[in-house]
This record gives sequence, structure tokens and C-alpha cells, in this order.
Amino acid sequence: MPDYILTNKELETMVETTDEWITSRTGIKERRILKGENQGVSVMGIAAVKDMLAKTKIDPKEIDCIIFATITADMTFPATANIVATAVGAVNAFSYDLGAACSGFVYGLTTGASFIQSGMYKKVVVIGGDKMSAILDYTDRTTCVIFGDGAGCVLLEPTTEDVGVMDSILKSDGSGEVHLHLKAGGSRLPASSETVDKRLHYVYQEGAAVYKFAVTNMAEVSSQIVERNHLTNETISWLVPHQANKRIIDATSSRLGISDDKVMMNIQRYGNTTGGTIPLLLWDYEKKLKKGDNLVIAAFGGGFTWGAVYVKWAYDGSKRV
Ligand SMILES: CC(C)(COP(=O)(O)OP(=O)(O)OC[C@H]1O[C@@H](n2cnc3c(N)ncnc32)[C@H](O)[C@@H]1OP(=O)(O)O)[C@@H](O)C(=O)NCCC(=O)NCCS
Repeated sequence: MPDYILTNKELETMVETTDEWITSRTGIKERRILKGENQGVSVMGIAAVKDMLAKTKIDPKEIDCIIFATITADMTFPATANIVATAVGAVNAFSYDLGAACSGFVYGLTTGASFIQSGMYKKVVVIGGDKMSAILDYTDRTTCVIFGDGAGCVLLEPTTEDVGVMDSILKSDGSGEVHLHLKAGGSRLPASSETVDKRLHYVYQEGAAVYKFAVTNMAEVSSQIVERNHLTNETISWLVPHQANKRIIDATSSRLGISDDKVMMNIQRYGNTTGGTIPLLLWDYEKKLKKGDNLVIAAFGGGFTWGAVYVKWAYDGSKRV
């Protein structure tokens, strides 16, 4: 996480909003912002992978693949994952970016686990993270209050034990484009002085439409994965929900009948870091995780994209932190 904390109070000085409105409508109190020149999302991705390497004591040369789930790549090309791989010394890895917005990490986790399950690769790193402050209009109160910057990562390895990524459901629906997108800077509408003047290089979001979609689909896909794996609210150890809005998280947990003490939550401190929310939850809660814990991870995002992954946690977190 970057050091700079942007509080609701500071946002009150930037746009017509209040701490009370932001807290009651979203659950967010503060978010982190990556400041400084030449600081792309890779900076946070590199820090996350270096932390993981120090913790697991693996040699970066052993990494086979790095997937970076992000929509705020340092540049259109090359892939930010390539930049990270070189910076951390993962000289034998192939690496690429994955663009599924807020569902990027669950897409990456599923893809990475499939590489391991196929037997082709032994060490896959999945990073999720975004520098949302780079694409937010800090004169638009409907979007700038909900997002923040941050990144996290996981290492996937083979095992013969009954743990790991057990099941996954991924979904997408391109008709969601109209409700949540960034208009300019791509090949359809390349950057020009006109696109800059019209402020088209920022997140465009119809909040209410996205909210309706998110509440329905995140709850639906979570119930599907729970039912088909015969999980119950007793056997689920943790719900790990994408952190977009506390009200959406509450709706998902109540649909599953999961009590608040089993719901991972850090939206109050980080806001919505897009690709970063789920690995950052795992990082924040790692100490509490035990081998064999059943985690239901759920996400939704721009695209629309959504999905749920059932993970049986592979180690006692308190021994690693
Ligand atoms: C964005 C979101 C928090 C807005 O909350 P909401 O309850 O739906 O609020 P609305 O958009 O209906 O706006 C209600 C009013 O609050 C106002 N408002 C919006 N942002 C505001 C802010 N930051 N401060 C104060 N007022 C604000 C609106 O202008 C509107 O005023 P009006 O009634 O006078 O027109 C909510 O829609 C949401 O979380 N949507 C999902 C977003 C999401 O998950 N995106 C990420 C996808 S991964």
C-alpha cells in the first residue's frame, strides 16, 4: 500500500461531499494514493512480489509465470507484468497482464491454478492491483470517493494435499460496457487535445446501475459455488468479497447466511482498489487463516465481469507472517 492516506475529510475540501455521505453510502473512511512522478502500478506490484519472495524464501528464478490483473497498466504496452518480472529477478518467467477490472484477481487466480493443475508449471504468481488515482476525475464526486490505489499477490504451487483452488465460476457480459468504462485513450478513441478537454480519460460510472447488477450477481455466483460444493454457513470459514461498497458486501453475506465475523473487510481503510481488493484482504487477514479453512472469494466489476472461487487455504497464516 502506498503511504499517502486520502481521508474523507480531505475529499470534503476537493468536491461537494461529506464524510457522513461517503461512510453511510459506501463504508469507506480513507484510501491510499500513490504519489510522485513516474510511479506506475508496477511500483506496488513489485513491492508485493518482493514481500512475498522474502516471506516464502523462494528464488525468483524458480517462478514460471507472473499474471498481473490490472486496468491501470504502467503503459498500454509492454505488459506491466513484464516490468515486474524483470524488477524482481524472475528471469525465467513468462508474464502478461489480465484485464477483467474488479474481477481481475479471481480470473487470474483461476487461470494460474489451471496452469498448475495442468502440470505445465510449478510456480505461478498472481498479482492484483491498480493505481485508480491515475484514472479518476477529482472533480467528480460520484467516482473519486470510492476508489483507491493498492496491490497484492499470491504464489500458487502444486500439492498432493486436499487444499488449494477447489472450484471456480467465472462470468462476463459485455452489455455492461455502457454503465462502467473509460472512453478515451484506447484504439476506438485515441488520446487527443479534444479528449483531454472533454475529460474523457477518467472512469465513467452509472453508480446505481452498477450497484443493482453487483448486488444481484455477486450474491448469485457466491450461492452457486457454495451449493455445488456442499458448503454451509458452518463449514465456510471466510467470505472474501470484492470491496466495492459495504452495502454490496452485506447483501452478499446475508444471502449466504454468513455472520459478520466471517466476512473479510478492509474497505474502510483502502476503498475500492479494483484488482487489488482480494489479495489485500488475504494479506490483511493472513495471520488469522488456518490450514484447511474454506474461503469463498467473490468479485464483480467492469465489463461486466464477475465470479466466485472456492479455496481451501493451504497453510497456517500465523506461522508465515
Ligand atoms: C456510487 C454509489 C456509492 C452511489 O450511491 P447511491 O446510493 O447509488 O447514490 P446515487 O448515485 O443514487 O446518488 C444519490 C445522490 O447522492 C449524490 N452523490 C453522489 N456522490 C456523492 C458524494 N460523493 N457525496 C455527496 N453526494 C453524492 C448524487 O448526486 C445523488 O444526488 P441527487 O439525488 O441530488 O441526484 C453506489 O451507487 C455504488 O456503490 N455503486 C456501485 C459502484 C461500484 O461498485 N463500482 C465498482 C464496480 S467494481
